[in-house]
Amino acid sequence: MIPTTRHKFKLARRVQSRRRQRNRLAYMARAQRSFREPREFWFTPALPGWPGWRIRPGRSGYDPIDYQLEFAHIQGVLVRKFITFKFRSQSWLFLLMLTIMALAFLTSGLFALYALMNPVVWDLPYPYTRWLVLGNVGVVLLYGLIGVFILINVAFNVRILMESTLTITDLDAQSSAAIEQCAALLVESFKEHWPEAWPEIEDARKEMQEALAEGKICRIATDSSGNVLGWIGGIPQYDGLVWELHPLVVKPESQQQGIGRQLVQDFEQQVLKRGGLTITLGSDDDDQMTSLSNVNLYENTWEKIQDIRNLKGHPYEFYQKLGYVITGVVPDANGRGRPDIIMSKRVG
Ligand SMILES: CC(C)(COP(=O)(O)OP(=O)(O)OC[C@H]1O[C@@H](n2cnc3c(N)ncnc32)[C@H](O)[C@@H]1OP(=O)(O)O)[C@@H](O)C(=O)NCCC(=O)NCCS
Repeated sequence: MIPTTRHKFKLARRVQSRRRQRNRLAYMARAQRSFREPREFWFTPALPGWPGWRIRPGRSGYDPIDYQLEFAHIQGVLVRKFITFKFRSQSWLFLLMLTIMALAFLTSGLFALYALMNPVVWDLPYPYTRWLVLGNVGVVLLYGLIGVFILINVAFNVRILMESTLTITDLDAQSSAAIEQCAALLVESFKEHWPEAWPEIEDARKEMQEALAEGKICRIATDSSGNVLGWIGGIPQYDGLVWELHPLVVKPESQQQGIGRQLVQDFEQQVLKRGGLTITLGSDDDDQMTSLSNVNLYENTWEKIQDIRNLKGHPYEFYQKLGYVITGVVPDANGRGRPDIIMSKRVG
């Protein structure tokens, strides 16, 4: 058949469309090859939600919606901590910067107060202008109030830092008073979210005897009067190359003051001294504290781990802040839908 102009035209279009398709595929392949995770700046691990921080899998972290959402969340959490006087920081530099910020807020609040005392503001001729000005002055006054809250929080933190004379030592197997305090801590601190862990003091005493066995690590944090504020234990595994961190507990009134962090850091040094390479731990989710509870962990396991959310202050986030990574889960470890979250860290 002799090709007509129409046939030639159709053929040329088909060739063109194939070429386009090939170019598109080549472009996608090139884009995939050259895709890199967004760079993490030195401060991003400390500030999740800051631009560049990958908030969710598949997201760059530069997405304005994600970014605004995380930023608003951070601000909300900060304001909540300030007004409930629960803001804690162990960094003198950070506290100094907060003080400067609080003083700036306070000064603007004082200006607003001064403005309110000026009759001109109240006697503006048009009601609309008057209320607009008064509204703005009110907002600035609110800033001043936030400044007061921040200053009070800073004062609390300075007091805690000045009074902190924490000592971390081995638990003496002969010191029955310290052992009894450690046992009481287990019952007291675990009863809210892990009531089945050590329900009675007898169970906790048995745990103390096991923790004090030969070859294990058992360290306590005490204050200047010798009262136990927290303790940490470790069990050697795999010929001492791996150490299981078990248990870790801080007295409820002394939590959020950096004691848990210091105990874990001291524990890491102890493991390092003994030639360990890895620390591993299991943190049970017995009370629907994370998004890993009540789900089928045999399906899309790693996606679920990657998307984990802390619903009720589960300690996995505490460990993440100290460099521990979720390396697995034990589904139904404590009953259907109540998993154990396995975390590890390289120390050697
Ligand atoms: C988990 C525990 C040991 C933490 O001790 P702590 O002295 O309160 O912790 P720290 O003050 O050192 O906290 C260090 C950081 O972790 C954060 N953190 C502490 N507990 C947290 C939790 N449950 N969830 C999220 N973050 C937490 C702190 O806010 C702090 O963050 P920052 O450095 O950004 O300020 C303590 O809360 C505890 O004993 N809980 C009950 C028992 C328990 O859960 N043990 C662990 C079982 S595996």
